[in-house]
Amino acid sequence: MTSYHLRGASPAKTRADAVVVGAWRDAKGVTLAEGAGDVGTAFGRSLRPMLSTLGFSGKSGEVVRVPTGGRISSPLLVLVGLGDKPSDRAALLLAVRRAAGAAARSTTNAASVALALPADDAGLVRNVLEGYLLGGYVFARYQSKETEKPAGTVTVLSPVARRQEVAGAFADAQVVAAAVRGVRDWVNTPAGDLTPPLFAEEINKAVKGTNVKLTVLDEAALAELGCGGLMGVGGGSGAPPRLVELRYSPADAVAHLALVGKGITFDSGGLSIKTAKGMETMKCDMAGAATVVQATLAIARLGLPLRVTAYACLAENMVSGSSMRPGDVLTIYGGRTVEVLNTDAEGRLVLADGLVRATEQEPDVVVDVATLTGHMVQALGSQVGAVFGDEGVAGPLTEAGRESGEKLWPMPITQDVVDRVRGSKIADLAQHDWTRWGGGLFAAAFLREFTAKRPWAHLDIAGPAFHSGSATGHWTAGGTGFGLTTLVDYARRLVGTSALAASDA
Ligand code: BES
Ligand code: ZN
Ligand code: MN
Repeated sequence: MTSYHLRGASPAKTRADAVVVGAWRDAKGVTLAEGAGDVGTAFGRSLRPMLSTLGFSGKSGEVVRVPTGGRISSPLLVLVGLGDKPSDRAALLLAVRRAAGAAARSTTNAASVALALPADDAGLVRNVLEGYLLGGYVFARYQSKETEKPAGTVTVLSPVARRQEVAGAFADAQVVAAAVRGVRDWVNTPAGDLTPPLFAEEINKAVKGTNVKLTVLDEAALAELGCGGLMGVGGGSGAPPRLVELRYSPADAVAHLALVGKGITFDSGGLSIKTAKGMETMKCDMAGAATVVQATLAIARLGLPLRVTAYACLAENMVSGSSMRPGDVLTIYGGRTVEVLNTDAEGRLVLADGLVRATEQEPDVVVDVATLTGHMVQALGSQVGAVFGDEGVAGPLTEAGRESGEKLWPMPITQDVVDRVRGSKIADLAQHDWTRWGGGLFAAAFLREFTAKRPWAHLDIAGPAFHSGSATGHWTAGGTGFGLTTLVDYARRLVGTSALAASDA
């Protein structure tokens, strides 16, 4: 087990197996970043030429390890590039988060690590620790060989370590990072080992020891209730659908947030089958559900005075004699009918049931999270999530994303897609039409039909939920946990405890 400490000590005098400092890339080559303190002085003029000999340019994610030969108390100095010094706060937080993540992967053999990165305030301290904990994430469940074990002691050095809000941010960062890691574990688990019933059991286990109450609706309960979206999508799989509902209701709640997550444990496309390549990463199609569940647990662990109800809509989209067909009409929970025209547009169908269930509780805000459309991957790439919905929700969510190193970009719902969603010739709504353009907008317009005009936002995280490359910054290969940190920070904003929201006011 690793233990985490926050200290005000000087990096040159700190005894650890490795001390990590940051470096900005600039006109002079590189400059040691805030937090490096007296390390630069200890090395004197020899440092810059040595770094240039080592080929270290300060580029984001670049790392060099320098034996200190007694110049400072620790035997090893780890320099990590922060890139060009940004002028805006969000970019600074992200640079620090990424550098801490890279540092975690360069200190895997050290029993004790001290992080002397920029950490002059609570937001920076939080990003140092979250970045480190996320960059060092490994998914070892399927590796038979023993993997590297994490450092025993991790110390974050900060000149403001004694401040109460900094200590608070430090403690909270551990809760948030654990939740992101929880999302990653679930996303990375092969679909065969995380079918809807198995995922529901995993959620049940994860809830233990928190104040969160859970109800699992199985296929019999879903049929009885009339959750036709989940039943339709899940009908082709041998593993039946589940709707997992979580409730966190602290006595001092000042608002009620409902979270709805897409939990397609595998998306083959159904009868409108995907290509082999298109299915390759489709175990990640439950990332939205994983995110809303872990966000609820994190909010509860942080003790935020916010009522949260979360809905994980779990189904497996498969091909069989009992699959739903293009042309079938499904009745969503609450009675609205939907004409299915592409069985690969399944996410909106399961979310419709979840959204109607959510709005029944009359929450103040509804946020859904889904790996919903390839269209948003086309539009925004793999690092940015799309946000749709009411400005009053989407605006603060986007701000929360900035504080969390997660970029969200606003997308519109235009009248033409609304008309197309309402344009089915035989049912209340069309689930799809074969217009290729703006498919992400069409999906969002479809979801909005089920929000009962409550303040709502929809996050399409199809791009950033899964990282197909190798580790970079605080992202590791596979599930990223994108969206979790933003949701938790948004919850803080709802209850007025976000550092950034407070300083903006
Ligand atoms: N799960 C996919 C979306 C997706 C694509 C997630 C790539 C992650 C990476 C979703 O269910 C889907 O298949 N969407 C279709 C929608 C279309 C049929 C309107 C798509 O993107 O093609
Ligand atoms: Zn899908
Ligand atoms: Mn699909």
